[in-house]
Amino acid sequence: MGESIKNYDTYIEGMGKSFQDKLFFMDKIDDITELVDFGCADGTLIEHMSKGLPGVSLIGYDISQEMIKLAKGKDKTSGLFTSDFNEALSIVNANKSLLNLSSVIHEVYSYSMPYAISEFWNSVFNPGFQYIAIRDFCVSSSVNRKADVNDWVKVIQKADANQVLDYESIWGSITENRNLVHFLMKYRYVSNWEREVRENYFPITMEKLLSKVPTDKYEIIYFEDYVLPFTANKIDEDFGIQLHDSTHVKLLLKRKSGVMKYLS
Ligand SMILES: C[S@@+](CC[C@H](N)C(=O)[O-])C[C@H]1O[C@@H](n2cnc3c(N)ncnc32)[C@H](O)[C@@H]1O
Repeated sequence: MGESIKNYDTYIEGMGKSFQDKLFFMDKIDDITELVDFGCADGTLIEHMSKGLPGVSLIGYDISQEMIKLAKGKDKTSGLFTSDFNEALSIVNANKSLLNLSSVIHEVYSYSMPYAISEFWNSVFNPGFQYIAIRDFCVSSSVNRKADVNDWVKVIQKADANQVLDYESIWGSITENRNLVHFLMKYRYVSNWEREVRENYFPITMEKLLSKVPTDKYEIIYFEDYVLPFTANKIDEDFGIQLHDSTHVKLLLKRKSGVMKYLS
């Protein structure tokens, strides 16, 4: 998975901060019996979900065996944690299942070979989950323009100059708005900087993400593009910059009635 995670505690703490936002789909779904959390990491999200989903079988899948070990060690939900996606699928009933993809799509794109990315989309859409919830970093292609010079100057004056240099050597000049916004999403992750600076938070545009949805099988029942309030406030506090581009997306897909169910 690319550069290793130097500090698991901060990596996990960083993911946990926005957990309420990650549960956006919970009040938008009808009764489900199984939920597969794809990229479950140490199981923190499953633990939060278990409180609002009594009686639902929770299954955590992660490609990282280290994460699965952590999840099993701290699990209080009697969930199943596995790094074998087929094992996860083997106990899912298509009629009443939800696949959750929280902050994982950008990692799949950042760390996988192209064939693995196609396999990933097959794993998402082929099994026939009733719901698919997606929440991740995502920008529209309209982010590709020159940065506002007043925002650029604020970063030059207030950011750690070495961090900017390091960032620009990988991603290019922050005079480009996309690069500036991307930098503002990651400058806080100092303790895992070597990994975070290389990770592409915006590997696919909103347009490309939406184009992946097989609209013959799924309809979008919820869509939101937004900036996390915590992040917006922090950037305002640290730089005096107000973000003008949405940096995140929440999507909830529901399988259309009459579409074949592939699972079980
Ligand atoms: C940023 S964390 C998100 C954790 C959790 N879903 C959340 O939102 O808090 C991304 C997780 O996805 C996992 N991951 C990355 N690529 C994956 C893949 N191809 N298949 C399964 N898990 C993957 C990583 O190991 C990591 O635990």
